[in-house]
Amino acid sequence: MAVQHWSPSSWRERKALQLPAYPDAGALQAVEGRLSSLPPLIFPGEITQLKARLAAVSRGEAFLLQGGDCAESFDELGQMPVESTFRVILQMAVVLTYAASCPVIKVGRIAGQFAKPRSSDTETAQGVTLPSYRGDIINGAEFSADVRTPDPQRLLTAYSHSAATLNLLRALAQGGFADLHRVHGWTADFVRRSPQGERFEELADRIDQSLAFMEACGFDAAKAPQLHAVEFYTSHEALHLHYEEALTRHDESCDRSYGASAHMLWLGERTRGIEGAHVEYLRGIDNAVGVKLGPAARPEDVLALLDRLDPNHEPGRIVLIARMGSDKVADALPPLLSAVRDAGRTPVWCCDPMHGNTVTSSNGYKTRDFGRILDEVRGFFAAHRQEGTYPGGLHFEMTGQDVTECRGGAQALGDEGLAERYRTACDPRLNGSQSLELAFLVADVLRSRGR
Ligand code: PEP
Ligand code: CO
Repeated sequence: MAVQHWSPSSWRERKALQLPAYPDAGALQAVEGRLSSLPPLIFPGEITQLKARLAAVSRGEAFLLQGGDCAESFDELGQMPVESTFRVILQMAVVLTYAASCPVIKVGRIAGQFAKPRSSDTETAQGVTLPSYRGDIINGAEFSADVRTPDPQRLLTAYSHSAATLNLLRALAQGGFADLHRVHGWTADFVRRSPQGERFEELADRIDQSLAFMEACGFDAAKAPQLHAVEFYTSHEALHLHYEEALTRHDESCDRSYGASAHMLWLGERTRGIEGAHVEYLRGIDNAVGVKLGPAARPEDVLALLDRLDPNHEPGRIVLIARMGSDKVADALPPLLSAVRDAGRTPVWCCDPMHGNTVTSSNGYKTRDFGRILDEVRGFFAAHRQEGTYPGGLHFEMTGQDVTECRGGAQALGDEGLAERYRTACDPRLNGSQSLELAFLVADVLRSRGR
């Protein structure tokens, strides 16, 4: 049934933070018109399926793994960046499945993660002030007046990049690459030589042996589709409301609107004001909706958001993504967990151990420490144990590539090492081997919880 007093454009009557000021309103409108005539990137049935999977997470029967770039970049479209991120998410998921013996729901920050909230509207360098870089869907990172001016044509480029990325992801998920019989082939060369690469190869050997054993017992693997393909979902921050509105579609079968730009959309920490435009848009669409919660979130804010975004208590609709900081999680998270539990709500609770742990290195790089990331994950699990609630998932900024953006880990990357391959378009990401290392450490935590 349609949502009351809502339309894809009703957000326009609210205050919209973090949106760019386009110099040419006519050009923006023309692009919106074009986008609204293009095919949806995803289908409503997939949204229903993801919500069913998330409902299982909220019951404690599955685990959510969400990860990808902080910001995708138009320059990075190609098979390699997408495939390398996809394969590391598969590896992490296999490690966690093996550890916890529970299904892992895989959601990428991918195929649409192009818009970034910024703490300042402008940036000044050598006496020149220009608009801040807000992600490739809005402007370019290069510090020149021309490139920093918001350009609506970028919305169309974002759409076509998302479509191409999603096409590749669907091929990778369904076309044989993700077959469990090929688990050895998922490890990138630079990871293979690392301790966690070796540990993964051992796990892959065990999976091979299990499959061979089951097949020797007469189990027909050819008839088990879940061994040959994976479900992989997409997500991004629903920040650019002009883009999201233009990609909103109507599902006649249930008279509901859905965001056709990704399976799951989330609300950022800076745009989750209850009366703001972003909440207004998200309340009306049928997708799974994430909500980032920083250490300043109060229990009453969270309950009000749940009432507004999920008045019907729909299973699998909401994922609360706590991003407290390793030093704050123990104090800030439990009051939210208990308030939500006492209100009879059962959202998925997910931990983003990245955004509360960003620091600047001695040589000026925005970075994060592997140890603090792991500490926040541990704090998240501890808070849930204390409150008797279920720690349902993890949300990472990561890439499959061999970048040097986060410090620490088995590679013991220090400040000097950051300069080598620091490539992110926004926040620092875990590289392929740090991601896998973290998955093994989280697996140990999950195992020790004893499901
Ligand atoms: C992000 O996920 O990249 C982000 C900006 O997060 P948050 O809204 O939690 O700061
Ligand atoms: Co980020």
